[in-house]
Amino acid sequence: MKKIGLILLVLILTFNIFFLIFFKSKSVLPENLKTFTTEELKKYNGSNDNLPIYIAYNGNVYDVSKGKEFYKIGGPYHDLAGKDSTTELNLAGGGIIKVKYTIIGRLVK
Ligand code: HEM
Repeated sequence: MKKIGLILLVLILTFNIFFLIFFKSKSVLPENLKTFTTEELKKYNGSNDNLPIYIAYNGNVYDVSKGKEFYKIGGPYHDLAGKDSTTELNLAGGGIIKVKYTIIGRLVK
């Protein structure tokens, strides 16, 4: 019985390590990332169905299009989209953004 527990523990730990590596590799910044000014980000705020939705957080620009339900007009977090939301995301939600979405650019001041 103890052995099964041990095997399960090893399996869970192995899974966690692969999971972490997978998400970490997604956030490794490639060279030549596109840069955005605050002004350029504005149109990617979920109000145009033909454009992706972007959020800037800690200097990185994330493509949050797959979370459209959160960021479209009338969505609960529409106000976070198309801008630098670092201050708000440090209060809540920043961790989710980092693991769920891909960095596609950098914010320049
Ligand atoms: C400072 C206020 C808050 C900010 C900035 C914030 C931001 C966020 C963000 C960015 C996400 C990730 C959305 C995504 O998956 O793209 C999220 C998820 C979520 N938030 Fe908030 N949030 C705030 C307060 C709240 C409050 C007060 C509640 C509940 C009453 C709440 C409930 C949720 C829920 C249920 C999710 C979904 C979690 C999941 O997908 O598992 N949030 N939040």
